[in-house]
Amino acid sequence: MNKNTVTLAASMLAAGLAFSGTVLAQDYPTKPITVVVPFSAGGPTDTVARLIAEVMSQDLGQQVVVQNVGGAGGTLGAGQVATAQADGYTLLLHHIGMSTAPTLYRSLPYDPTVDFAPIGLITSVPMTLVAKKDFEPTTLAELMDYIKANGENVTYAHAGIGSASQLCGMLLMDALDTQMTTVPYQGAGPAMTDIIGGQIDMICDQSTNTTSQIQAGEVKAYAVTTAARLGNLPDLPTTAEGGLDLQIGVWHGLYAPAGTDAAIITKLEAALQKALTDETVISRFAELGTVPVTAAEATPAALTELLTSQIALWKGVIEAAGVYAD
Ligand code: MLT
Repeated sequence: MNKNTVTLAASMLAAGLAFSGTVLAQDYPTKPITVVVPFSAGGPTDTVARLIAEVMSQDLGQQVVVQNVGGAGGTLGAGQVATAQADGYTLLLHHIGMSTAPTLYRSLPYDPTVDFAPIGLITSVPMTLVAKKDFEPTTLAELMDYIKANGENVTYAHAGIGSASQLCGMLLMDALDTQMTTVPYQGAGPAMTDIIGGQIDMICDQSTNTTSQIQAGEVKAYAVTTAARLGNLPDLPTTAEGGLDLQIGVWHGLYAPAGTDAAIITKLEAALQKALTDETVISRFAELGTVPVTAAEATPAALTELLTSQIALWKGVIEAAGVYAD
């Protein structure tokens, strides 16, 4: 075979592979899709994932199954998807932790900006400061004084270094210039169980994991971390109203492993956008204190832009706080 023949054969092979990829993408999906949630079942990220997955299943004509891979503040599950086959059958639903982990973990085994193909944003969830129901402080001002006076005698639950609850706790301790005793869990679901049971004093967690418990009187609530109060918790003051300089919203996104065919990403993006306009999703999100993003935000471009800017933002904050996982 001369050089020209070899080049022609290689081009035909490449064209053939590209063609078969296109054919596969056209048929996609032909089997169930797994969405990895990097926290325990029953927590806030899981709640968002299960609502979205059910509607995406209907649109895609295949089961979209949620798999909980908790541990290491979301980095175990994210790492699993980073190295999964890029065939559209393993996805990741993760939150703001995608942007904090690169600074918190000096030896993170994946790069959020390189190892994933973003599909789109989903929602931004307010956080709430809550405690076991017989916790002594009754207002946010009292809570701040209590934490300052009792420091490490106060126990603070979080879902591991890299979780939203850990981030909010870090911001709270920074704002009060006081350390609490932090207790890590594999997710905010089991953390909430222990707060309701009175084994742990408090947590700052997403409204998707606290609204029902606040409404049922199972936990004591002090503040919401958004600029405005929540419609379904109108008596709960904002952190700013209570004199606490702490504002945060927990954004969630959907990702595939890097290298996933662009046509598959486009199908998933369309299914995500459809799910976010579903009446059941909208009304359940509203009950839990959040709203889906617009179709323009449920896109790879919007998620890429936010991820990149948030990595830069949190790098400065985490380095100033000097908190690291390893
Ligand atoms: C967090 O704190 O990051 C989340 O609440 C974790 C979870 O979804 O369980």
